[in-house]
Amino acid sequence: MASLDHLKTQAERRLIFLGPAGCGKGTQSAVVKEAFKLNHLSTGDMLREAVAAGTDLGKKAKAIMDAGELVSDSIVLGLVEQKISSCPNGFILDGFPRTVAQAEGLSELTKKLNTPIDAVILFDIDEDLLLRRVCGRRVHAPSGRVYHIEFNPPKVEGKDDITGEPLIHRKDDNEETFKKRMAVYKSETAPLIDYYTKANLLHRIDASKPTADVSKAILSLLCAATH
Ligand code: AP5
Repeated sequence: MASLDHLKTQAERRLIFLGPAGCGKGTQSAVVKEAFKLNHLSTGDMLREAVAAGTDLGKKAKAIMDAGELVSDSIVLGLVEQKISSCPNGFILDGFPRTVAQAEGLSELTKKLNTPIDAVILFDIDEDLLLRRVCGRRVHAPSGRVYHIEFNPPKVEGKDDITGEPLIHRKDDNEETFKKRMAVYKSETAPLIDYYTKANLLHRIDASKPTADVSKAILSLLCAATH
């Protein structure tokens, strides 16, 4: 496994969270963002914001996302490029890159900005666990807070704990779309495991454990380098 020793003397953290739908990337991003004061850059959230705002981009993206397909590389690269240069302590890229072309685009961008990626964290998990996680997910769209009807229920059913506002059930969180998303993950995104292993950046964590244990594993991977 690649060493993270260089983080001992470096204040910033530039991370990629890699893994299939429902593996916990968004849930753990909230924890790691808070611990290191990072920017959380989720291309899924950016696209959902565009859909909610009814922009031209949102109109194009909606049907693609509802079908579980990938939005074009150039669109998502453009979204990330807009945000990545204004992250003073670093960032977590959640759900990006998702294709080798996106990884190559990101590599050019980080070279140009002199902000190299420190680590790619692969959320290792058995596919059988994912469908239950995805179908039971509920989201507070304005904040991105994520709940689960069984594993992390809100205090009041259907309401966000902080604001009391209604939670939504994402349109792509159903069995049929999940199967499509898994197929796309295997063909388009899984090759990044090899890509980042060769770049000596890949770190695996066991994402099948309870949320608190997964957080502990990620923080200890990243904190171990700070002490
Ligand atoms: P996106 O929003 O990125 O979805 P995703 O990658 O499929 O990931 P998810 O958000 O489904 O899952 P997650 O890993 O964040 O899991 P979470 O923490 O919520 O993308 C949506 C769509 O946008 C794509 O299909 C595509 O169309 C488009 N898109 C986005 N990025 C793109 C790109 N780069 N290129 C092209 N198109 C792009 O957890 C899931 C549930 O499990 C929650 O309910 C949670 O409470 C629960 N849970 C989490 N951890 C645990 C645990 N350890 N134990 C028990 N329950 C847990």
